[in-house]
Amino acid sequence: MASGSGARAACVLTALLLGLCVLAVAGGSISEGLEVSWGDGRGGVSPDGEVLTLSLDRTSGSGFRSKDTYLFARVDMQIKLVPNNSAGTVTTCYFMSEGPWEVHDEVDLEFLGNVTGEPYTLHTNVYANGTGGKEQQFRLWFDPTTDFHTYSIHWTQQHIVVLVDGTPIREFKNHADQGVPFPSSQRMRLYGSLWDAEDWATQGGRVKTDWTQAPFAASYRNFTAADASSSSSAYGQEMDATAQQALKWARENYMVYDYCTDTKRFPQGFPRECYMA
Ligand SMILES: *[C@@H]1O[C@H](CO)[C@@H](O)[C@H](O)[C@H]1NC(C)=O
Ligand SMILES: *[C@@H]1O[C@H](CO)[C@@H](O)[C@H](O)[C@H]1NC(C)=O
Ligand SMILES: *[C@@H]1O[C@H](CO)[C@@H](O)[C@H](O)[C@H]1NC(C)=O
Ligand SMILES: *[C@@H]1O[C@H](CO)[C@@H](O)[C@H](O)[C@H]1NC(C)=O
Repeated sequence: MASGSGARAACVLTALLLGLCVLAVAGGSISEGLEVSWGDGRGGVSPDGEVLTLSLDRTSGSGFRSKDTYLFARVDMQIKLVPNNSAGTVTTCYFMSEGPWEVHDEVDLEFLGNVTGEPYTLHTNVYANGTGGKEQQFRLWFDPTTDFHTYSIHWTQQHIVVLVDGTPIREFKNHADQGVPFPSSQRMRLYGSLWDAEDWATQGGRVKTDWTQAPFAASYRNFTAADASSSSSAYGQEMDATAQQALKWARENYMVYDYCTDTKRFPQGFPRECYMA
């Protein structure tokens, strides 16, 4: 917290002058904003402070958390996923509140690994006031293991937008006025992890983790957290026409699962937000 206060003061000043605030918590070292929080030495930061790497072996995975908590924010993170045979592994980046589990809020990005040559699945979910079950899954339009790509969560009072390399793939709107819980009262912390989920992650659990490939590793860099409420952003209040077009493109071409169309799961009708514009 202390390390960010100077930047924050400067930001407040800038905001007053320009009416716009872009607050980067990580100017250089990723450890300014994040800390490895579990994994018994399996997670660490490179000597130049730029890259945080998580690893997973048969005994344990590892994870990090943000030093700050947020009530609305735009976070961007560059991630390079486990290469080659990543079946059974799950790499995550997610927001979660710290209060009682029964009423907790959460925004999930989970990258489900696959065997070499088969595509990763980006699994997304939102929990509000303890209720989740709002899954959407996507393919990516690039190989996420050869380079870093930017994954973002844009969380304001109006909506939550998930972006991949700046392209919106999902929007979860605030319909609290119509009785659909929305994360808007609890601060959330950002977490990341690499862990084993061979029971369900890959091809429904049919393909297990190949431990001869261990340790598995995923890398994170250039974490930034900014004030998301700026109305000058394409996502500040609601999406502009260009953003809506991009979202449509991503949904039409890369979405592989949407709870709002899963009639087997919801034979009596979908959750109410599925009927709202
Ligand atoms: C992944 O596979 C390629 C060949 O397909 C190989 O050159 C590379 O070393 C492998 N990487 C790792 C991390 O095992
Ligand atoms: C959250 O859930 C609890 C029950 O778990 C309920 O009593 C409360 O009214 C809910 N709050 C909102 C804002 O929906
Ligand atoms: C892995 O690849 C298979 C075959 O292409 C695909 O059906 C599956 O959705 C992919 N992802 C996961 C997480 O199983
Ligand atoms: C780091 O992230 C910021 C904000 O997302 C972006 O503007 C900048 O280009 C990124 N830097 C690199 C080296 O990718």
